[in-house]
Amino acid sequence: GFDIGKLRAETGLVTLDSGYGNTAAYKSGVTYLDGEQGILRYRGYPIEQLAEHGTFLETAYLLINGELPSADELSGFRGEITQHTLLHEDVKRFYDGFPRDAHPMAMLSSVVSALSTFYQDSHNPFDERQRHISTIRLLAKLPTIAAYAYKKSVGHPVVYPSNDLGYVENFLRMTFSVPAEEYVPDPVVVAALDKLLILHADHEQNCSTSTVRLVGSSQANLFASISAGINALWGPLHGGANQAVLEMLEQIQQSGGDVDTFIRKVKNKEDGVRLMGFGHRVYKSFDPRAKIIKEAAHDVLSALGKSDELLDIALALEERALNDDYFVSRNLYPNVDFYTGLIYRAMGFPNSMFTVLFALGRLPGWVAQWHEMIKEPGSRIGRPRQVYTGVVERDYLPVEQR
Ligand code: ACO
Repeated sequence: GFDIGKLRAETGLVTLDSGYGNTAAYKSGVTYLDGEQGILRYRGYPIEQLAEHGTFLETAYLLINGELPSADELSGFRGEITQHTLLHEDVKRFYDGFPRDAHPMAMLSSVVSALSTFYQDSHNPFDERQRHISTIRLLAKLPTIAAYAYKKSVGHPVVYPSNDLGYVENFLRMTFSVPAEEYVPDPVVVAALDKLLILHADHEQNCSTSTVRLVGSSQANLFASISAGINALWGPLHGGANQAVLEMLEQIQQSGGDVDTFIRKVKNKEDGVRLMGFGHRVYKSFDPRAKIIKEAAHDVLSALGKSDELLDIALALEERALNDDYFVSRNLYPNVDFYTGLIYRAMGFPNSMFTVLFALGRLPGWVAQWHEMIKEPGSRIGRPRQVYTGVVERDYLPVEQR
């Protein structure tokens, strides 16, 4: 094929591609995404099938190892993860130092980064055993780290993991149990959260995954790379959109539920306001995850017997946008984040935890992509070029002459 490296060496030319919209930074066999047709497959399996029949842990295994696990492989994987859910007692002191109103995403990335201080025995990305154990530790500990962050924000004592429970049940129990009352997870909530985690598990070279790969390309350890990915996810144009959607719906509700005025503001780009949860760099017809999540939102709300005025506002916004030329001409459709917040809210999570839930789901994808990059023969450090726009050259002047 066309060798851009050779062209650059011969001509000195570099390509400038705003937001990397047309630049494939890697070859990858993890996730297939066709934005024109709204197709998403993990290792070849359609997202619809995995969401309907699979579990989050088998999806994580699939992404990381390339194949769905046999029954024995799955129980071995589950068993290993269960053994590593505890955090070192000293980790709790980090939470003591954070202000109570700290954003849980900041706590999450800080504590994940701090794991590299506790597990210095697994920093070498080229040692298969070390790669494996750091992967298991992360998958096992992220729900505990997330639940502790929530406990910090509400001022409750932490709840230790329970090894008798499944991945999602354990996380819900650590989050919502209080000394006075043991939380018994509702099967509807468990199934819905498991499904949401599957839907978030990978999405090829999005901002956070590219970040994980870029940091990892310097051969930084897995904890450091994942911590960077969590920070990338936090922004409102990426994973932080799920929190931003709920805040937008609440604002519309507080101002009397006037959807048309809000849509007008978006179209006029007043104060840079966007319809959060709409639009995607790659999907140009629909986001297949959003389709499944919209149904799940209805199911969960009705199963929990909750009606939510915010759902009505969301439905009205979607209906207006899908019939408006501004959104239609720019191919703006609901993305994965448009309805997730409503489900998380019905489950009892505060807005600030929504992006943390996204991170729990995305972890296997980050890890799978990091493994793929590290194992690829001839993999190079990620190092983009630039088009320099500054002053070409000038002479230094002593401070009294400036
Ligand atoms: N509301 C209103 N207008 C929008 C929106 C939106 N949500 N998204 C894009 N546009 C408009 C832009 O203003 C631009 O219009 P213009 O041509 O008149 O200038 C045009 O559509 C193209 O937008 P870009 O910003 O160039 O699209 P890009 O591919 O860079 O951005 C993104 C994609 C970040 C997802 C964007 O659609 C957005 O900001 N959406 C809202 C935030 C959001 O929901 N993010 C979650 C994404 S999915 C995920 O990470 C899980």
